[in-house]
Amino acid sequence: MHILGIETSCDETAAAVVDDGRIVRSNVIASSQQAFGALAGVIPEQAARMMIECVLPVISQALTEATTTPDQIDAIAVTRGPGLLGSLLVGTTTARVLASVWKKPLIGVHHTFGHLSSTWLSDDAVPDEPTFPLLTLSVSGGHTDLWYRTSHLHGTLLGRTRDDAAGEAFDKGASMLGLPYPGGPHLSTLAQGGDPHAHDFPLPLKKEAALDFSFSGLKTSLRYLLRDLGEAARKEDVAAAYEFAICRHLLDRVQLALQHHPDVRELHIVGGVSANRRLRAMAADLCQSAGRPFVLRTPASLGYCTDNAAMIAAAGHFLRQEQGNSAFDAFDTEASISLLSVVSPLNS
Ligand code: KG4
Ligand code: ZN
Repeated sequence: MHILGIETSCDETAAAVVDDGRIVRSNVIASSQQAFGALAGVIPEQAARMMIECVLPVISQALTEATTTPDQIDAIAVTRGPGLLGSLLVGTTTARVLASVWKKPLIGVHHTFGHLSSTWLSDDAVPDEPTFPLLTLSVSGGHTDLWYRTSHLHGTLLGRTRDDAAGEAFDKGASMLGLPYPGGPHLSTLAQGGDPHAHDFPLPLKKEAALDFSFSGLKTSLRYLLRDLGEAARKEDVAAAYEFAICRHLLDRVQLALQHHPDVRELHIVGGVSANRRLRAMAADLCQSAGRPFVLRTPASLGYCTDNAAMIAAAGHFLRQEQGNSAFDAFDTEASISLLSVVSPLNS
């Protein structure tokens, strides 16, 4: 199945063509992030207006790079939410019109379900198929979730953040360190020259059995540390220690989940924060010491970690595969939708 994916949930306008949920034939992204670099975040109205101008050229480029014409596409998959409503409407309205004109079925995809599907994507030959059951740590700017999954659409949400998302913790920490938005990658680059053990941060929820996350305490510790160090702060050390503390907390909860689920043989880490090098290295160490054969999967390229349309096309394929033609049912465009309405236990 050749699916054209369209993603416009935040400040990126993206389109991609993916075969059978796995092989990426094209993946095009126009980002308005630079326009917001000097600010502390995205201005929704402005992001949507910029999208209106580039959505059709981006789709056209995705088709051209995939050497595909609209009649060779089997379906269109588009992000239906959650996200910024104005941005989402640009993508879903465009997708609805194209589906109608080209007479193609349309699949509405939950943005985060797209991230969950991103570890299936590949740039070359079909790689080995991930095997369920597996654990997925989904970490981005909007959410931080830990899933036990028995198929694409079936699983249990083991834990989620109680306050900020991991990406937000990176972005807010970066802003305290004077780095531009979105701060995660900048903080990570700065941290490479620092000592992760130069400062001690607390391990959040350490005494709790719940597999939830919380980043507000780390953020507060960072604020006090910077205040106390003042001019003496070696920013690369502070960044490295803060990054280490976020990763340690994420993997502390994953380790607990692995103990609860001895049947799991794969850990997938997806979402923008899965691009983080320290998180990948620490996760690889955790998998090596798991005491059983264990595969760590992160998206095949960094472009599949952050928002992209290839993951939406892949997710559309898996929805069609597991739901049949009801994947083509009408849907609303919504700023807020729970992923529990898409991925749920088998017997619910
Ligand atoms: O998945 P994503 O592109 O968008 C959302 O769905 O939110 O994630 C964006 C988040 C931002 O908070 C960004 O700072 C963070 O992912 N991020 C990183 C890195 N690359 C992106 N955080 C830490 N290290 C990185 N290398
Ligand atoms: Zn995202």
